[in-house]
Amino acid sequence: MQIIPTITEMRSALWTSQQRERIIGFVPTMGALHEGHLSLVRAAKEKCHVVAVSIFVNPTQFAPGEDFTRYPRTFDADCTALEKEKIDFLFAPSAEEMYPPGATTYVKVEEIADRLCGRSRPGHFRGVATVVSKLFNIVQPDFAFFGLKDAAQFAVIRRMVRDLNIPVEIVGCPIVRESDGLAMSSRNVYLSGEERRQALVLSRALKHVEESFHAGECDTQKLIALAKQVIAAEPAVRLDYFEIVDPDSLKPLSTIGDQPALAAVAAFVGNTRLIDNTLLHTKALSS
Ligand code: PAJ
Repeated sequence: MQIIPTITEMRSALWTSQQRERIIGFVPTMGALHEGHLSLVRAAKEKCHVVAVSIFVNPTQFAPGEDFTRYPRTFDADCTALEKEKIDFLFAPSAEEMYPPGATTYVKVEEIADRLCGRSRPGHFRGVATVVSKLFNIVQPDFAFFGLKDAAQFAVIRRMVRDLNIPVEIVGCPIVRESDGLAMSSRNVYLSGEERRQALVLSRALKHVEESFHAGECDTQKLIALAKQVIAAEPAVRLDYFEIVDPDSLKPLSTIGDQPALAAVAAFVGNTRLIDNTLLHTKALSS
């Protein structure tokens, strides 16, 4: 595995692969890697000849007062994990390399980027869309792999790629969970033992909603009320949103019909903001 800190070196490292028409897979991350990230790497390895991963804690997607400075940074352990997966390139630029003085161009995906997490974190998806489009321009991958855990991010990236005709295919990978159901996240390290237990209410609420939906409940207001009732059983968990939306447009749905619906939750457990979701679809679609 080659560790590459600059854009110029990254471009020239991939040039040979591009000339040889090797299929390039790319996994953008902010590091503090866990099995969720590594599942994307494995999916990329399976589909592509050459795999590049990036580690960059992107300042433009954090609002003032969010956890940018204390975001977990575990570069050496990340390198060891990626070496084991036998990836080809690790792109690990500095903030100055990605945003030289005077950088004032941003990518803003209208409307969709203001829904779900975008509503609670104004400007967040502008930062994500900007850095991901820069990374796509640098790596020029054939396939890029994203986790469905960040369902709103996935929708925003897909829309951006479609709208800007970026020549990359976006691949969505399933949510990887701890054995007790908690969705893996780099931010889980912030949780105390008690908060870790309280956080389980999010996946539990989604499970209840799935069960009620599969038992025939299609009214989203009723499903949301059920989820809120489950979450209220942990008063220390402060709900940001629980919504049921169209997975592509992120617009709220009033009933669930033949098309899949995304049930998405965000909540603060202590000071830690966690997200989780599940896709609700009829048996006919899933089989
Ligand atoms: P980060 O939070 O590091 O996540 C990198 C990728 O890993 C994202 O596509 C995310 O959805 C995926 N991922 C995280 N936890 C997962 C889990 N439990 N199961 C499956 N996939 C999981 O998302 C970002 O970084 C940034 O916003 C980024 C796209 C890199 C832009 O800065």
